[in-house]
Amino acid sequence: MIKYEEKSGEFHLSNKYISYIIKISEGGELYHIYFGKRIREREDFSHLLKICDRPLAIYSEENEIGHSLQYTQREYPFYGGGDFRYPAMEIAYENGSRISCFKYSNHKIYQGKKKLEGLPSSYALSESDAHSLEICLEDSLSNTLLTLSYSIYEEMPLICKSVRLLHRGEGDIRIEKVFSSCLDLPDSDYELLHLSGAWSRERHIKKRSLEQGIQGIYSMRGASSAEHNPFIALLRKGASEEYGEVLGFSLVYSGNHLEQVEVDTDNAARVLIGIHPDTFSWNLKKGESFQSPEAIIVYSDSGLNAMSRSFHKFFNTRLVNGYWKDRERPILINNWEATEMDFDEKKILDIAIKAKEAGIELFVLDDGWFGERNNDKSGLGDWYVKNFKKLPEGVSGLSKKIRKLGMKFGLWFEPEMVNKNSDLYRKHPDWVIAAPDRNMSQGRNQYVLDFSNPLVVEYIYRAMKKVISEAGISYIKWDMNRYITECYSAAHQAKDQGKIFHKYILGVYGLYEKLKTDFPEVLFESCSSGGARSDPGMLYYAPQSWISDDTDAIERLKIQYGTSIVYPISSMGAHISAVPNQQNGRMTPMKTRANVAFFGAFGYELDLNELTKEGMEEVKEQVRFVKKHRKLLQYGDFYRLQNPFEGNIAAWMSVSEDKQEAIVGYYRILGEVNKAYKRLKLQGLDEKKLYMVNGDEKQVYYGDELMYIGMLIEHTWERGADLDFSSELYYLESVIL
Ligand code: DGJ
Repeated sequence: MIKYEEKSGEFHLSNKYISYIIKISEGGELYHIYFGKRIREREDFSHLLKICDRPLAIYSEENEIGHSLQYTQREYPFYGGGDFRYPAMEIAYENGSRISCFKYSNHKIYQGKKKLEGLPSSYALSESDAHSLEICLEDSLSNTLLTLSYSIYEEMPLICKSVRLLHRGEGDIRIEKVFSSCLDLPDSDYELLHLSGAWSRERHIKKRSLEQGIQGIYSMRGASSAEHNPFIALLRKGASEEYGEVLGFSLVYSGNHLEQVEVDTDNAARVLIGIHPDTFSWNLKKGESFQSPEAIIVYSDSGLNAMSRSFHKFFNTRLVNGYWKDRERPILINNWEATEMDFDEKKILDIAIKAKEAGIELFVLDDGWFGERNNDKSGLGDWYVKNFKKLPEGVSGLSKKIRKLGMKFGLWFEPEMVNKNSDLYRKHPDWVIAAPDRNMSQGRNQYVLDFSNPLVVEYIYRAMKKVISEAGISYIKWDMNRYITECYSAAHQAKDQGKIFHKYILGVYGLYEKLKTDFPEVLFESCSSGGARSDPGMLYYAPQSWISDDTDAIERLKIQYGTSIVYPISSMGAHISAVPNQQNGRMTPMKTRANVAFFGAFGYELDLNELTKEGMEEVKEQVRFVKKHRKLLQYGDFYRLQNPFEGNIAAWMSVSEDKQEAIVGYYRILGEVNKAYKRLKLQGLDEKKLYMVNGDEKQVYYGDELMYIGMLIEHTWERGADLDFSSELYYLESVIL
């Protein structure tokens, strides 16, 4: 999969889908030749480089006319020299200079893939699953080594990239910028797609044409954020869900990030993805090193859908790890929307008893169980029960009773936060992120604990460990309800303050690592006021994410559709909640609420005691349905069929790996009277297989008919109270007649 041609100094990383070609120039500079659909092996690709003399160009050497860095596709551009575009790396040296000059030193090719130190990263299943390349460059003046790491998988159309800096010289250096990946593209005929939004409208799809200049998305909020997910895609003009070339860039990171595309005035594009440089600087002493997070770059020649399936497969099988990898997710009920913090043991047990009756597998007790927590003004930081009026026998007592019913028990934590009104804050007011002598901003009446300080992480670790082991906990919802402001750590020296945002997120990862080691079977669900930290870094530790607080099924169509652009269905927490919906008051039929939530890590967020007898029967039926089709729904190949951002209809489907069965979800947002019938073209089926729809012997079609002509959508729900917000599910099973 990785070839090095000594004569031409070229690396060709390839599998049956993609090629990635790098060249070492005569001067030791790394040029980028190509990334895209696989091309034939050649000893020398230098004819593909565009090297020519340009007016006013700057050249590194007097005799190197034509090799201007400004007009060359570079592999990893550092600041200094004649490239005036945005660099991937910038280092400040002790004498004030910011000029680097990294030249090729050596390289290593090996089977398998190494884990990144202290950071979440993808892994290889075996030695032959992935091959890796490390190219080592050296700045001889400062005696600093830069290692560019690449991994390519046999069966995946993608490349993983990261970089590492090792300072071996005397004196400190300060890294000002270090992106995980740079990709120089020869043209800019693309549209930029990103997933942006806010609380309760996370990962809405946004698209725009690339223009000359810089465009991008970022977070400087201390979390990957609801505003901009650490992902962008470049779509060839005219590319769609099914057709055309797409490049997808995803960062395995949960902190501040920047995804940026610069189009120069020659219309070449440079894509950078990595830690946001404006809130970062990192000094290295002799012998110290810095590791960047990992970037994943997917290539698709058949549209966005195929790119998404590559990300889903990759994240499910090479990022999610441990006990929950490939496992069907338990059907849960969470009490948040039913009770918020106003509960006692009886109220909770009443819901749990009903949940057990419905066949629900896991009960999750949300916010409000610890400290003096009756509203959001107090209690965070005190991870023990103080209010025995609420829980007379503590969490352990409640957990015991719920487990006795035959359900697993899960618990909510917000480990990174503290209220001023808490034992923890009273004892350790210096354990929060706050700048000396400056105002300390609050959000939801809470403050951010200094997770860059190992002492703080250790304290929270012990507190959580105690509850988890005492209360027999199977699931943790790890929330995080405010962003970081006034970023400063009292535990670090002035010169290290540029490290705090990154060290904070390393502290979060460290805590996850410890808890996962102690409790390997506990299922973690990440959460951040809904989906403000639903990113691949979190996914490595928490195989599910509560992707939004917005539980309205119609709003969820966009959120789940957008989230599925990158993230697997198994990872998206999706619950049926009560009507009128808590966020927007909408009355959506139970059937539609279920039909949307089925495509996710399914659960409930309501008080089942408030349902009618018929409502309860519906719940039982939904639970039976999910148990029967869970594998298909959560791990099937997912195809988006109709885009709710573009019209009144949303549709998607999941197909089993062997193409024996599929489930289609079809959603009509507003009712339309006397609408012409519709054929919905399905995808991913076997052309030659006969499929029976909804067990109806009169509805048997070949896969090619369903895919190329389409499935007739019956508007049988044309009149009636549920005219708006209606939906249908279609279950397709391959049959032999
Ligand atoms: C925000 C989460 O997104 C909700 O689901 C809930 O857990 C609340 N926090 C609890 O405070």
